[in-house]
Amino acid sequence: MTRLICVTGGKGGTGKTTVASNLGAALQEFGRDTIVLDANLTNPNLGFHLGIPLYPNTLHDVLKGDSHITEATYIHDSGLRVVPAGLSIEDLADTDPDNLPDALLDTVGDPEFVLVDSAAGLGNESISAIEACDEVVVVTNPNLPAVTDALKTVNIAEESGTDVTGVVVNKIQNREDELDADEIESMLGHGVLAEIPDDPAVRESLSVKKPVIHHEPDHHVSERFKGVAANMAGLQYEPDLSGPGLLDRIRERIGDL
Ligand SMILES: Nc1ncnc2c1ncn2[C@@H]1O[C@H](COP(=O)(O)OP(=O)(O)OP(=O)(O)O)[C@@H](O)[C@H]1O
Ligand SMILES: [Mg+2]
Repeated sequence: MTRLICVTGGKGGTGKTTVASNLGAALQEFGRDTIVLDANLTNPNLGFHLGIPLYPNTLHDVLKGDSHITEATYIHDSGLRVVPAGLSIEDLADTDPDNLPDALLDTVGDPEFVLVDSAAGLGNESISAIEACDEVVVVTNPNLPAVTDALKTVNIAEESGTDVTGVVVNKIQNREDELDADEIESMLGHGVLAEIPDDPAVRESLSVKKPVIHHEPDHHVSERFKGVAANMAGLQYEPDLSGPGLLDRIRERIGDL
């Protein structure tokens, strides 16, 4: 049975699209048939994270009733299926996020996982995405404003009857003023699935339009994403966190000069 999972979190820029694209890529690598869908209708950018070229049919066309979701599904080199959203302002006209549940139901019975990359905030488009899914993965950063926004998302999910699978704490810088995993768990009432450091490898991978798990598969950040994906897929997987860290990468660069 298909699991519809919304990757959401309230605050903008916490790393929702990064998490959705990497979990999707990791699930596919584990042999789980997966679709990642860009439900960020106003500011879509999943296509940039995955290197998807401009595509004639998008989720906007599906929500307008002009295309079936299968016509708007792009197959990435890795086998991961991706439903991009339209990038132009015109695409927004006549697009009704309330049609998202029907569009998603059209994929049911097909892939094992559909990951829905949600917009920031708690407007109609993100609430529709939460309501349309069976589960949410909440992405937050270790600071009070981000976790407070994440709590609103958790409350909406609980009110909608959508399960909260857990929390990904992203962009950890190990600063003293950051909230730790225990504090975040007690504020949100749900477990932390992974703690992902703030690492230049993630920004670099976006600049080459690849998920970090494809760009630097052995990096400890990639391993952490694979750990979450394995957990979601019910697989035994021990992330290998011994991969190159920042200092090793600086040494490599100096060696290249
Ligand atoms: N762990 C990380 N380390 C370093 N940079 C990161 C990390 N996670 C995300 N980023 C960077 O932060 C920026 C925002 O990430 P992303 O687009 O995934 O956030 P988002 O929550 O989807 O944003 P939006 O709310 O606009 O949709 C990107 O430049 C991304 O490369
Ligand atoms: Mg995003």
